[in-house]
Order: sequence, then structure tokens, then C-alpha cells
Amino acid sequence: MSHDDLNESRLRLRRGQKWSLYPAEVLPAWVADMDFEVAEPIRAALAERVANNDLGYPVAPGRTDLPAMFAARVAERFHWSIDPADVLVLSDVVQGFYVSLETLCAPGDGVLIQTPIYPPFLHAAAETGRRAVLSPLVAAGNRYEIDFDALNAAVDAGTRVLMLCSPHNPSGRAFARDELEMLAALAERHDLTIISDEIHAELMLNGERHIPIASLAPEIAARTVTLMSASKAFNIAGLCMAFAHFGSKALRQRFEKMPAHIRGGTNTLAIAAVQAAWSAGQPWLDEVIAYLRANRDHVAAHCRAHWPAVRHCPPEATYLAWLDMRPLNLPGNAQEYFLKQARVALSDGRAFGEEGEGFVRLNFATSRALLDEVLARMDAALAAHGRAT
Ligand SMILES: Cc1ncc(COP(=O)(O)O)c(C=O)c1O
Repeated sequence: MSHDDLNESRLRLRRGQKWSLYPAEVLPAWVADMDFEVAEPIRAALAERVANNDLGYPVAPGRTDLPAMFAARVAERFHWSIDPADVLVLSDVVQGFYVSLETLCAPGDGVLIQTPIYPPFLHAAAETGRRAVLSPLVAAGNRYEIDFDALNAAVDAGTRVLMLCSPHNPSGRAFARDELEMLAALAERHDLTIISDEIHAELMLNGERHIPIASLAPEIAARTVTLMSASKAFNIAGLCMAFAHFGSKALRQRFEKMPAHIRGGTNTLAIAAVQAAWSAGQPWLDEVIAYLRANRDHVAAHCRAHWPAVRHCPPEATYLAWLDMRPLNLPGNAQEYFLKQARVALSDGRAFGEEGEGFVRLNFATSRALLDEVLARMDAALAAHGRAT
């Protein structure tokens, strides 16, 4: 089936939160799942497990070929050479945030975070009793950039961790090598441990290669925990599996002080799905990325033509458009406005930190027809209120 052929009534049968949280008249363009059908090799692997009643306790993922597959994957995709022995399999990336903060720094320690940011960064710092040290990205022309002077100035004596989101959600920035080198230098200068969430690494939209910050140099790797997953690129987040790479034995030992049973595990179906994704899913992913790139450009063109006042820097990675609605002076909150007036569910910028006030995040990982319907509903709502330009 082509990605053009998504059927809305079939999507509405899905039980996941994207399609079930809002009533039937609302089109969902919020949580970061894609509407596309999952790659056939993944569906076949899952169907085979079910057909064989193969749903018992799995072999511990660390004893499967998954760490070696992960190492092969990052070598092929990112030219990053790692030892599978330095890889742990986790339930999910956000779990990796919590365990890393609990084990790699102390309560009250500062955690440097670049806002606006995927909300669990903020929750993880707050809920583990760490102190979020926030430094905003700045919109510069057609992209968000790091203000290194401000970032450096934000670091105080108690800051111990740089919690990096690379590529960055929601700005869609895929940081260039020189930016990553400057971040790494900052981490060295202030002796920060780097927790690097690189879950969107395989969703680079401009054909460029993702650069893991740990791949820059062995001394950077030595202070870095890299968190990755097949879940975002292959659209299997509900199966729960992620990977942590430790650039030093010391980091890994500290992380593993959290007992394995508290860390939780993964599951039989996730193992099958990730093995299938990495062994046979690439043609599907290549097609999806081409489709996302076209949708990204379509949203940007729509913004320019129909909502020229709205500020939007088209993402270099991810399938998320971060839209600054403040110039429209919408009555009340922008997310609520579009939910009520357009019957479109977007993500509320406020969840991404203070800098997200007045912004919404639009997920464009859907068919062109559904995306056009989302945009048309937003157009109509704005036109009805005389706020289109
Ligand atoms: C930047 C980022 N990190 C982590 C996650 C969630 O990862 P997981 O489901 O593995 O916890 C997401 C999901 O959208 C994300 O955008």
C-alpha cells in the first residue's frame, strides 16, 4: 500500500493514543507516531511470533544478537564504530533518561537542557529531584541555533549533566559537526556527563548523515551515554525497546547500580520487530523519509503562502513542524484554539517549556491527503476569525 492511500476510518480503529484520545471529528496531528503502515518484514515477524504462540519469556535481549545488530547498524548508518559489549538494551529512551539521572548525578545537581524541549526532559529532571538549567535555542533565519555564550553562561557550579536532544525535538535541528564539537568542548570545560537522546537519528530529511556526539572523539565518548531506538524511524514505539551505549565502563557500572528488575525489561515482540526492522526494513524507511521530506516541504510552502505571519523553521530531521503562532494573536491558547475551531489536535507548545508559549507542534507523518485536510481545517479556522495573515 502506498503512503498516499491511508484510510481515515481504518486509522480510527487503531487503539493507540494518537487516534483514540480525541473524538471522531478531530484529526490528530500531535503525538510522535506516524500514520503509515508498519514495514512488511516487521509485520511478518510479529505475525510469526503470534502464529507460533511464541509469547513466553524472551531470551534476555542482551544475550540475543541485538547489541551486535545495534553496533552494525550505527557503523553502517553513522560511521560510528562501537563495541557491542558497551550496549545495554532498555525498555525505552525516556526510561534511559530517568536511570541515567538517578545513577550518574545526585539530587539537586544541575542538568543543562536546551529549550524548547521534548517534555520528558523536563519531567525527568523534576521527578528525579535534579535541577533543570535551561538555555533556549534561538530562531535565526531559517533554523534554530545554539547561543553558545548563553549556554556557557547558564552552566553554574552545580551543573553536572548536559542532556542533549540530537536531532532536536521540537525544533527539528540536526546539529552540524562544528556545533556538536562546541557542545562537546563545553561539556569538557565544565566536566559534564552527556546524556544524548538521539532517537531521531534515522529521520534525517536532507540526506545528511547523523553524527552521534560520542563519535567525535574517544574522550567525548568517555563522558557520554547515547540513547537510541528503532522505535521512531520504524514506527513501533508501542513495542518498547531502546538502546544505551556507554562510552566508558565507569558510566555503565554506575548505570547498572540500578537493579535490572527496577530498570525493567523489554519483550518478545519488540525483539522480533527490531531484528526485522534492521535486517529487512531499510527499503521501507528510505521511502518513508522521501515521503516525509516532501510533506515537510509542503507544510513549509503552505505556511509561506497561507500564514505568512507564522514563524516556522522547516525541520532538518524528525517529522514535526514547530510553528510560532504568536504573531496571529489568537484568542487564548493556540493548541486549544485549533482543537476547538479547526478540530485538529496539535501538541501544545507550553509542554515544551516556557519558550513554547504560543507555539504548536504539528506532526506531518501522514498521507498527503490527510495532511492537506489538517492544513485546510486550520486555514478555515483562521479565515473565519480573520487571522490568516
Ligand atoms: C526526542 C525524543 N526522545 C524520546 C522519545 C520517546 O522515546 P521512547 O518511546 O523510547 O521513550 C521521543 C518520542 O517522541 C522523542 O521525540
